[in-house]
Amino acid sequence: MSIHRPLVAVYPGSFDPITRGHEDIARRCLRLADEVVVAVAHTATQKKNVLFEVDERVELIGQVFADEPRIRCVSFQGLLVDFCRSRGAHLVIRGLRAVSDFEYEFQMAQMNQELSPDVETVFLTPDVHHSFISASLVREVARLGGDVSAFVSPVVLERLQGIYGVAS
Ligand code: PNS
Repeated sequence: MSIHRPLVAVYPGSFDPITRGHEDIARRCLRLADEVVVAVAHTATQKKNVLFEVDERVELIGQVFADEPRIRCVSFQGLLVDFCRSRGAHLVIRGLRAVSDFEYEFQMAQMNQELSPDVETVFLTPDVHHSFISASLVREVARLGGDVSAFVSPVVLERLQGIYGVAS
């Protein structure tokens, strides 16, 4: 008798903040996996100017996916592969927007493969309307007073407006 265990995909990132592009990728993951764990890293490979605390990012992601019980969000410390092992997950999902993402993503996927050969990285492409969106651009546009309402969900927008004022 075989017992079906739910296939868990880990979708890791900084998510500072979660964008419409991230949302699209997480929902696409549900076509491949039974459950998606959106995993907010305390340690990001690329140095960035942080806007939201990790706990606040987790809270926002929870609100964004409040309608989808198969998507959960947690934060993690340390290596992604160790987090995956602790969750019994063998599938890591990353979004690939453009060729410019490729080198960084390829390097991380291969490093993770070396560290933990039983974890596979699968790349998903976002909807074409989201392929130019990045959290760092959202932060910058919001900081400079631009309208980011098309790039983030209302809960995130509200939080950005609380920081930068009503234009964002
Ligand atoms: O959204 P980001 O910042 O591009 O996501 C990068 C992230 C968080 C997935 C990556 O930095 C990561 O996995 N960090 C956890 C620490 C780790 O495992 N580092 C080695 C990566 S090969």
